[in-house]
Amino acid sequence: MAEREQQQQQRLAKKTVRDVPTAGRTVLVRCDFNVPLQDGRVEDDTRIRAHIPTIEYLIAQRARIVLCSHLGRPKGRTANLSLRPIAAVLQDLLQRPVQFCPDTIGPRARRAADALLPGGILLLENTRFYPEEEHNDPAFARALAALADLYVDDAFSAAHRAHASTAGVAAFLPAVAGLLMEQEIHQLSRLLTPERPFVAIVGGAKVSDKLGVLEGLLQRVDKLLIGGGMANTFLAAMGHQLGASLVETAHLHAATAVIAKAKERNVRLMLPVDLVVADYFLAEPDRRTVDVGQVPPDWIAMDIGPITAERFATALQDSRTIFWNGPLGVAEWPNFANGTLHVARAIAECKAFSVVGGGDSIAALNRLGLAGRIGHISTGGGASLEFLEGKQLPGIAALADR
Ligand code: 3PG
Repeated sequence: MAEREQQQQQRLAKKTVRDVPTAGRTVLVRCDFNVPLQDGRVEDDTRIRAHIPTIEYLIAQRARIVLCSHLGRPKGRTANLSLRPIAAVLQDLLQRPVQFCPDTIGPRARRAADALLPGGILLLENTRFYPEEEHNDPAFARALAALADLYVDDAFSAAHRAHASTAGVAAFLPAVAGLLMEQEIHQLSRLLTPERPFVAIVGGAKVSDKLGVLEGLLQRVDKLLIGGGMANTFLAAMGHQLGASLVETAHLHAATAVIAKAKERNVRLMLPVDLVVADYFLAEPDRRTVDVGQVPPDWIAMDIGPITAERFATALQDSRTIFWNGPLGVAEWPNFANGTLHVARAIAECKAFSVVGGGDSIAALNRLGLAGRIGHISTGGGASLEFLEGKQLPGIAALADR
């Protein structure tokens, strides 16, 4: 068995919250409540809902539940990145009180944790209000651990960060996976030994963000479909003129290497054959559809064209496994969302086991009301990509083996 696959299988052998006694214990649960907020209002609660099974399990066990999470990338205390609004959302979802503590560690947090009754829930303030969190500072991790008897890591989407609350704390408490973490590892692992044909669709703006995952996918997929801004760099590497489109010139060689590797491994690499282009990067610019190679000077590629979208949809038809990450155009603007929506629909119609990750891809499915037709919607953006690269994620590595 390849070394990487061995590593992945070891990860499945982690203990979960079901493997340890939790009744009456105080349990620190690392969640990922890193959700979009607008004027203190949660705009999308998908990630919050994803933790409900773990929290409800612990309520049923009569555990005392202390939740923690990061939100955004604050430099010190930042009022609009407080987790307080999340407590209100949780309270609605769980239909029971959720206490909020404006500290993450220290005497106030300690008193609030000690005051919990069995089945009671406390949410601590944003872990990233403390610089020690991202430095994985042992004293901070110890102070967090001091609030509880057991650590449950449910934050798969933050497991690629070696921070105090995602990894360091496991040095001071018994550490097991939550139910969301377990589910994510289980479902994403199916992509490591996939049923064939396995088709991956990768989009998003930059190829530089996804080189590692492309390399990882090339080891496993039968077809690799590339769209979105990152396709420009591949098209430029093949000699096409892309007008004023975003092209990462520093990564042209890397794109050429991916093309060569696909050929070598007999992977069918599909790139756009037509593009929707615009004269300005605006929601309502002048726009037209052109063949690749026909992008007018100063125009910008904004979406895959209809012929490409149809070819991508056809390429999915006989698949048994699908992975999709990243929009195929500037999907937040309706004029450039067609490619993304077309592919989202095609994936939902397939009988294949499908996994979708990344906020924009999930938003497209939600917009079409098709999220329920997907095998697994991963809460992890960066984390799911690193998992598929075959990297050891610190948040998973820190958990106890079965
Ligand atoms: C995410 O949104 O992918 C996770 O919450 C991690 O957030 P980060 O990229 O700020 O570490």
